[in-house]
Amino acid sequence: MQSFQIGERTAFSADVQSEDAQSDGLSYQLQDWQKGYRSLVQEHDYWIDEIEGEIPPDLSGTLFRNGPGLLDVNGQRVHHPFDGDGMICAFSFQDGRAHFRNRHVQTQAYLEEKQAGRILYRGVFGTQKPGGWLANAFDLRLKNIANTHVIYWGKKLLALWEAAEPHRLDPATLETVGLDYLDGVLQPGDAFAAHPRIDPACEMDNGEPCLVNFSVKPGLSTTITIYEFAPSGKLLRRHAHSVPGFAFMHDFAITPNYCVFFQAPISFNPVPFLLGFKGAGQCLQVKDNQPTQVIVIPRNGVDPVQLIPVEAGFVFHHANAFEQDGSLYVDSICYATLPAVDPDEDYREVKFSNLDPGQLFRFKFDLKTQSVEQQLIEPRCCEFPVTHPDKVGQPYRYVYLGAAHDQTGNAPLQGVIKVDLATGDRQLWSAAPRGFAGEPIFVPRPGGQSEDEGWLLLLTFNGETERSELVILNAQDLSQPVAKLRLKHHVPYGLHGSFTPYVFLPS
Ligand code: CO
Repeated sequence: MQSFQIGERTAFSADVQSEDAQSDGLSYQLQDWQKGYRSLVQEHDYWIDEIEGEIPPDLSGTLFRNGPGLLDVNGQRVHHPFDGDGMICAFSFQDGRAHFRNRHVQTQAYLEEKQAGRILYRGVFGTQKPGGWLANAFDLRLKNIANTHVIYWGKKLLALWEAAEPHRLDPATLETVGLDYLDGVLQPGDAFAAHPRIDPACEMDNGEPCLVNFSVKPGLSTTITIYEFAPSGKLLRRHAHSVPGFAFMHDFAITPNYCVFFQAPISFNPVPFLLGFKGAGQCLQVKDNQPTQVIVIPRNGVDPVQLIPVEAGFVFHHANAFEQDGSLYVDSICYATLPAVDPDEDYREVKFSNLDPGQLFRFKFDLKTQSVEQQLIEPRCCEFPVTHPDKVGQPYRYVYLGAAHDQTGNAPLQGVIKVDLATGDRQLWSAAPRGFAGEPIFVPRPGGQSEDEGWLLLLTFNGETERSELVILNAQDLSQPVAKLRLKHHVPYGLHGSFTPYVFLPS
C-alpha cells in the first residue's frame, strides 16, 4: 500500500512527557484489548450503583452511544467490527444519579439473522455468508446495520449508518420504531451520512442552530448532497454537487459558509466483491502519488465549489473548521496510509505497531490563491476529536481526543488528551495499562463561562474486571476523574455518541 509523506512533521510545541516514557514495554496487553470485542447479547436497564467519586449534581441529560453490539451471529464471527449490528447505550443523568440501558437496533437484517441463527448478509468490511465465495458471489444486498452514530434532533432519536437511511428509536425505551425518511426528505435506499454537524448559531437562520449533514453517492464521479435541518426537524436547505472521481468520505467539517470534505486518492475495484472473495470495503485501494482533493462546498448552494489538492494521507475524522482573517482552517486526524482490512486476517490479532498512527494536523487554506499550509499539532496516536458544541465551525481553543497512552507509535486508545491550541499545553488522562477508551464527549457545565468548563464523558473497558466504566472527568483538570461509574457488564468498543440535555428515562 502506498505510503504518503505528510508535509513537514514538526511538533506544534514542546512534547508532553508520557508517564512511562522510560519503559520499553507496551502500555497494554493485546489479550486485555481483545476482550472488549465480544458480543453483548443481553439488554440491560438499571440504576448504576457502583460509583467511585460523585456524579456532579448539575450534570443533567442523556448520553447516547452507538457501536457494534454483536460481533457474531450465533457463534459465526463478523470479519470486522464495522460489520457488527448496532446497539444503543443510554446513560441518563439526574440529581447526581445515573441510569443505564442498552438495546440492539432492530434492523430488518438483525431480526432475520436472529431468527435464522446464522449470517444471511455479507458485510461491507469482509463478513461473508457461510459456504465460501460461491455462496457470496453476486450477492450485492447491503445490510443497514445502524451502528455508527446516534443523535437526538427534531424530537427524534436516530441511529445512523452512512450508506443507508437512519433508524428511529424511542429515546426513553430505545425500542426501534423503524426506518426514518426525515419527513419525506429521503427516499427508500438513500444514504445519509453518520457525521452530522450542528452549527450552533447559523447566520442564514437568524442565529438559530441547524443540523448539517450530507450523503455521498460514489461512482466514476461522485455526487455529494448537503442537507440542513432546523431544530424542529424541518428541511431548510438541500443542494447536490458532482465532483470528479470515486470518493469514500466518512466525515466532513463545517464553518458558517462552507462544508469541507477530504477526498482521498482512492479507487474501487469491484471485481473481488462481485465474485464473493472480498467485502466492498476491502476493494478500496489508495492510488500512488496522487494528492487528496479537498472539496469546499459553499453552504449557500450557489457559489462555485472549489477543489484544492493537498498531501493529507487518509482522513476519517475532522476535529473542527473555522474561518479567520480570510483563511479557512481545518483540523483533522490524518493517517499516512489507509489501514487495510485483509480477507484472511483476524482483526483481533492486529499488530498495532505495524500501522500508522492517526495524528492531528491543522490545514490553512487561502481560498483566493488555493494555497495550503499544514502543521502537525499532536503527534500522539489519537482519534475521535471533539470540541465544545458552541465552537463547532468557529475559532476555538480546546480539542479533546481519544488517545494512546504512549507518546509515539500506533496503539489502542487508552485515555483522553486535551490540547490547548492557543498555548500548546496538553493534559492526558489514561486508563493504562488495563483500561481502553474510545470517543470522549464534552458536556458544557450549565451557565459555564470558559470554553473548557464542563465534563468529559468517556466509556472505558477494563481488561481486568472485563466490565466497562463510564469515566467523568472535569475538562479543566484531567488529573483525577470526578467519578467512575462501573457497569455490571462490558460494552463492546463503540463508535460515536452524543449528549442531549433532555433526561430520558423509561417510565
Ligand atoms: Co466516524
